[in-house]
Amino acid sequence: MKRFHNPDFDREYDEVVSKVREMVVPDENERNRGLKAKEILESRMKRVLENFPDLEFRFLGSFPRNTWLKGNLEIDLFILFPESYSEEELEKIGLEIGRKVVDRWEERFASHPYVHGWVEDVEVDVVPCYRIKGNKIISAVDRTPLHHEWVKDRIKGKEDDVRLLKSFLKAGGIYGAEYAVRGFSGYLCELLILHYGSFKELVKAACGWRRGLVIDILAGKESEGKAPLFVVDPVDAKRNVAANLSLDNMAKFVERCRDFYLKPSVEFFVFGDQKYVEKSLLAKEIKSRGTELIAVEFSKPAIVEDNLYTQLERARKKITKFLQENDFMPINSDYLAHKTCILVFETQVKELSRIKKVMGPPFEEWTHTTKFREKKREYLPFIEGGRYYVYERRKITKPSEAVKFFIENNPKTLGKNISEEISKGFRIFTGNDVLKLEGIEYFLVKFLKMKV
Ligand code: UTP
Ligand code: MN
Ligand code: MN
Ligand code: MN
Repeated sequence: MKRFHNPDFDREYDEVVSKVREMVVPDENERNRGLKAKEILESRMKRVLENFPDLEFRFLGSFPRNTWLKGNLEIDLFILFPESYSEEELEKIGLEIGRKVVDRWEERFASHPYVHGWVEDVEVDVVPCYRIKGNKIISAVDRTPLHHEWVKDRIKGKEDDVRLLKSFLKAGGIYGAEYAVRGFSGYLCELLILHYGSFKELVKAACGWRRGLVIDILAGKESEGKAPLFVVDPVDAKRNVAANLSLDNMAKFVERCRDFYLKPSVEFFVFGDQKYVEKSLLAKEIKSRGTELIAVEFSKPAIVEDNLYTQLERARKKITKFLQENDFMPINSDYLAHKTCILVFETQVKELSRIKKVMGPPFEEWTHTTKFREKKREYLPFIEGGRYYVYERRKITKPSEAVKFFIENNPKTLGKNISEEISKGFRIFTGNDVLKLEGIEYFLVKFLKMKV
């Protein structure tokens, strides 16, 4: 089929990439800033580890592999602990050392808390992990040194392809394996480039990807499985490197590859230009849709990010289901967690009538019809098409009342920490009032699927 073939792709690809390269490859100055920070860290670590002779440190991640994206310089410093340390000790000492070796810091959470800091204004992650034997890991980051060993030499000569891929993903909002994104991690990018040989070949192959694809890099084989995408970890055959990639983000990647393949352009690598829309324009859009927009705001519980997003996802699903069951016809829902947590719903129904028509049993069922007719009611039951019906009054006629009702009556089902936080208080905004929420514009442009 002609429509799905681009005979000029190779030439057009080269043209685009020649322009994109300088956007994704760090310049001399950025490299030097990284190297200087690394040196400082090295000497500080050596000094601090004099008190901990059984610990080691290593630089891992994209900096030593030379695969970080221009403008995204960040050094991943790992502290390796022997298995004799307990997880509490590892955590405590990890944080203690982390704070000592950076200029300024903040605490962040992954599977363990770790220090995120700065050395000479270069971002640094100081992550403690276990030095493991075989592939029996204790904490989730224990495989990272093995990943580094596996990738570091193999990736030589292909670093810029990794950068092109990262930038291509970032521009599509699908770079990062954290729950908030559910996209592609840095390590996954490297493995995909290694499997297909180049970014160009990956793009071509991904145009034909199907859900269930299993990529076994060591065997050089592809097969079919259950996960949306399963990329076998070369250092641990049981582990899926793409475990956090959602089906929809896999589909988005395929869509982007197809669009890029048919019409390569620099646009596919441009990111950071968050599309801002004036509040007045958003207000006009909200009004003209004729839907109801509902936002619930509450304080952010102090928990690990992945856990927070899991709970927000749960709350989103539960409330959407309740809106559906109560005839409000939800068409979209999402959440964000910046300064506060905000759940957002859009329903096709703004207001329902006070009465609704309730279906009863068919006339043949004597016992059921008797019960139905004898129930104390405000209206008379009637027969239609051979079965009974009756009008009843609704308690809830507006979607925002439904959201409020659900939260107040089922706080426990929303997820432990969210329910704790939400029962201390929450605010509901509807329609254009949603625009009163600070920093909601960019979120709404995407939520409403506006072309801008
Ligand atoms: P990064 O997220 O820094 O990835 O984690 P990266 O490969 O260096 O890519 P960029 O260029 O910074 O985006 C570095 C390694 O640390 C481990 C992962 O194994 C990853 O390969 N890590 C880090 C985690 O497992 N969890 C974390 O929260 C952070
Ligand atoms: Mn990194
Ligand atoms: Mn990172
Ligand atoms: Mn990092």
